[in-house]
Amino acid sequence: MAESSASRRAEAEYTEIIVLNVQGLNTEYVDGHNVRVRAARDVSFDVPEGKLFTLLGPSGCGKTTTLRSIAGLERPVGGSITVNGLTIFAANTNTFVPPNKRQFGMVFQSYAIWPHMSVFKNCSFPLEVGTKKLSKRDIQEKVMRVLTAVGLDHIAERDATKMSGGQQQRLALARALVMEPKLLLLDEPLSNLDAKLRDKMRFELKRMQRELRLTTIYVTHDQEEALALSHEIAVMREGRIVQKAPPREIYDLPNSKFVADFVGTTNFIEGTVRSCDQPDGHMVVDSAIGVVTVANAISCRVGDKVTISMRPENLLVSDTREAAGSPNVFEGTVFTKVFLGETLDFQIKVNEQVVLARVHPTHKTPVGGQIFFSVDPACCIALRSEAV
Ligand SMILES: Nc1ncnc2c1ncn2[C@@H]1O[C@H](COP(=O)(O)OP(=O)(O)O)[C@@H](O)[C@H]1O
Ligand SMILES: [Mg+2]
Repeated sequence: MAESSASRRAEAEYTEIIVLNVQGLNTEYVDGHNVRVRAARDVSFDVPEGKLFTLLGPSGCGKTTTLRSIAGLERPVGGSITVNGLTIFAANTNTFVPPNKRQFGMVFQSYAIWPHMSVFKNCSFPLEVGTKKLSKRDIQEKVMRVLTAVGLDHIAERDATKMSGGQQQRLALARALVMEPKLLLLDEPLSNLDAKLRDKMRFELKRMQRELRLTTIYVTHDQEEALALSHEIAVMREGRIVQKAPPREIYDLPNSKFVADFVGTTNFIEGTVRSCDQPDGHMVVDSAIGVVTVANAISCRVGDKVTISMRPENLLVSDTREAAGSPNVFEGTVFTKVFLGETLDFQIKVNEQVVLARVHPTHKTPVGGQIFFSVDPACCIALRSEAV
């Protein structure tokens, strides 16, 4: 009895309720020279209730267009969008629910705070003019609740223009939240803040999203932000989603050179697959730095030209070969060193290749000195050679 109810409970925890489904979305713009721009190409994803889903990619890859399509500010030429099972857009049936009927909350890069209003009024105004008829008291209560959530309750009466960038950002968020949106859409909301404030707001945003279980779509070109905030990340390139996975998987097991390069810092080492039949499933690659044993490979066969990706923090350096461990031990000379405070970046020259190792700042090997490094095969990934 007890067991079956426990297993039912476990099952319930794993059943995710999908709030947003985007299927085969395609958009088209006609630019100034009458050329068609396909900004979003076959974009598909699901966002479960209470989760934060990020669209990550370089400028111009179609993130904003995708978000605006969800908001109803763009009309795609193909695909469908459903929210809680209800179709809000479908190209084939000509369904298009206008943006004001979608009941989403939005915060864009420019917060568009209403300058002639107080902090309180900025939040209460959307409720006052909204379709729901609320009493003054209800409005007061709702507004103060969101202002408390974003830490602005103590300056509710302040003129909205007399606030710092971070406070304006929180006000923009509060104004979106007060409408109790089914879905929160955030387009680079932290990009106007300086680095320190951005880090702080990143924590706050994460805490708030998790606490209030806000189903959120987050758009950014900042890979650190994406790794820090997301339950799942979709990396976009030229309008398409090229990889969709939780942050750690995106970082540890990128499926292409593009993703490995865009997310984090990595070393790329060119090579040719020598054997694929190692007992532990490992692969051996002849490379520019020597023979490398690799535990992860994306569809590679013997003879294939591959690129090995290894992250600089996974290179363990030492002054002696013995201390370096096995099987992937390489010898080189220190080319340059850059002290970064928390870490020390060594550029190590092995044959004609320079590799980057990010090590603890206590390492003292001088420039020009002999150095060894090892790297766990589990931290090496062989990717098909392609132009990045
Ligand atoms: N209103 C528009 N008219 C024509 N082209 C556009 C328009 N908006 C965006 N684009 C183009 O669509 C592509 C994707 O843009 P966008 O979605 O803004 O990318 P991102 O948000 O990832 O930087 C880019 O090539 C951009 O130049
Ligand atoms: Mg954009």
